[in-house]
Amino acid sequence: MLPKKLEKELNDQVTYEYDSSWIYLQMEQYFAAQNLDGFAHFFARQAEEEDKHAHKFAGYLVERNSSVTLAALRQPKADYTSVVEVFEEALKHEQFITARIHTLMNVAIETKDEATQVFLQWFLTEQVEEEDTMQTILDRFQIFGSDGASLYLMEQELGKRE
Ligand code: FEO
Repeated sequence: MLPKKLEKELNDQVTYEYDSSWIYLQMEQYFAAQNLDGFAHFFARQAEEEDKHAHKFAGYLVERNSSVTLAALRQPKADYTSVVEVFEEALKHEQFITARIHTLMNVAIETKDEATQVFLQWFLTEQVEEEDTMQTILDRFQIFGSDGASLYLMEQELGKRE
């Protein structure tokens, strides 16, 4: 059985992952409204990934003979002043999720639950990737600018995300 404290943190993480998906779906709509379909596509895929993360946590809880209780989702921010601001917010959010995974890992260590420590390894690696994706896009905006041809090329590239 999962230690109670760890079970609660894992359960909360399911909602945090859906919350991430909700934030990215709103970002998708921000871009869709401007006909920036490549960026909209990028955030639609990102939201799908977060859904998968939520299911991964939920599936793990069930495997450990627990169950999931979802909490309400917060209304995501809908107004942004620029494309760059959206990616800054996305990076900030991923950093928050990374901190959450570290908290989970610390609780798994503290409660000596080795199986959960192994389960969380995947998320630690995933978070390195997630932060790097957002940071790389911001770095490119910084180097090449975030309007005109540079914006157009970035749109094309991110529109190809699998
Ligand atoms: Fe599920 Fe983007 O972290």
